[in-house]
Amino acid sequence: MQKKDLDWKNIGFGYTQTDYRYVSNYKNGAWDEGGLSTDANIVLGECACVLQYAQTCFEGLKAYSTADGKIVCFRPDLNATRMADSCRRMKMPVFPEEKFVEAVVETVKANAQFVPPYGTGASLYIRPYMFGADAILGVKPANEFQFRVFCSPVGPYFKGGVKPLHLRISDYDRAAPRGTGHIKAGLNYAMSLYAIVDAHEKGYDENVYLDSATRTHIEETGGANIIFVTKEGNIVTPKSDTILPSITRRSLLQVATDYLGIKAEEREISIDEISSFTECGLCGTAAVISPVGTIDDHGKIITFNEGKNEMGPVIKRLYETLRAIQMCEIPAPKGWIKEIL
Ligand code: PLP
Ligand code: COI
Repeated sequence: MQKKDLDWKNIGFGYTQTDYRYVSNYKNGAWDEGGLSTDANIVLGECACVLQYAQTCFEGLKAYSTADGKIVCFRPDLNATRMADSCRRMKMPVFPEEKFVEAVVETVKANAQFVPPYGTGASLYIRPYMFGADAILGVKPANEFQFRVFCSPVGPYFKGGVKPLHLRISDYDRAAPRGTGHIKAGLNYAMSLYAIVDAHEKGYDENVYLDSATRTHIEETGGANIIFVTKEGNIVTPKSDTILPSITRRSLLQVATDYLGIKAEEREISIDEISSFTECGLCGTAAVISPVGTIDDHGKIITFNEGKNEMGPVIKRLYETLRAIQMCEIPAPKGWIKEIL
């Protein structure tokens, strides 16, 4: 297949319009048939619920070209389930989970020329989302919704590729107890924009959020979960009801135990204990696993991997194993790889 003429090796994490996207509309209590469209624009009324009250949620996953010429994506069924959870919490109609996976497959297939070639390090980012579309003035959910899936070829989320990141403990909070931190609602990202701009202006790559109830435990960053490596070489990752249940993180815990024989634990992690950890990484679809070099806790700098300008050994093994599974270089656990083409 003829690929598009793009500079695959130097592509960043940004939007490139592709030829097709999937669109389905919900009206009078039912989803329509849905299908592909070449129109990348959306026309909405001025009082659309999403514009006034941010009734929207989204997902993110990736498709890859494999060494033997296939196009695959990683655990789309988990994105379907998480989106259904987000919809229920946001009073939006669930887009049926099997149809969600079909929509992802159809969108990727139609845009196969945009799936970066194997070996370039780039991938096709897939963005399913839904929003309240009809006019709503009093605060209440919309009656009409649109579900869409677009995709865009992307490179690394963090500039500089695998150079360790510099994070700070944020003074802003991300998610309230019993709020929406555990779902992928657009509003969770809207409220992080002030903090991320402020972090960038001060020279940090990202914010680490604490639990907003006590501000004593590590939660996650604005766009990724966090994992640590203990002195013993085990993995620990925060357990909390107010963080997004990252599919990458859940996969890594299984990769650690089943593939690498590394002990992995989910538990509350106190801010006071992070200086005892040897390595740190951010994990997510966009972030993959990005090594963390330092966390600045109000002037106290916690350094990981002995300050070396590279991925630590444990994070590296996790990264390489997960990447090899995603690219079908080694066998994946049952159901993890969805073959598209
Ligand atoms: N946490 C947040 C806040 C995110 O936006 C993301 C990205 O989706 C993640 C974690 C990682 O989740 P996943 O691994 O499912 O992409
Ligand atoms: C993802 O990793 O898919 C996300 O949604 C994170 C986002 C900050 C780009």
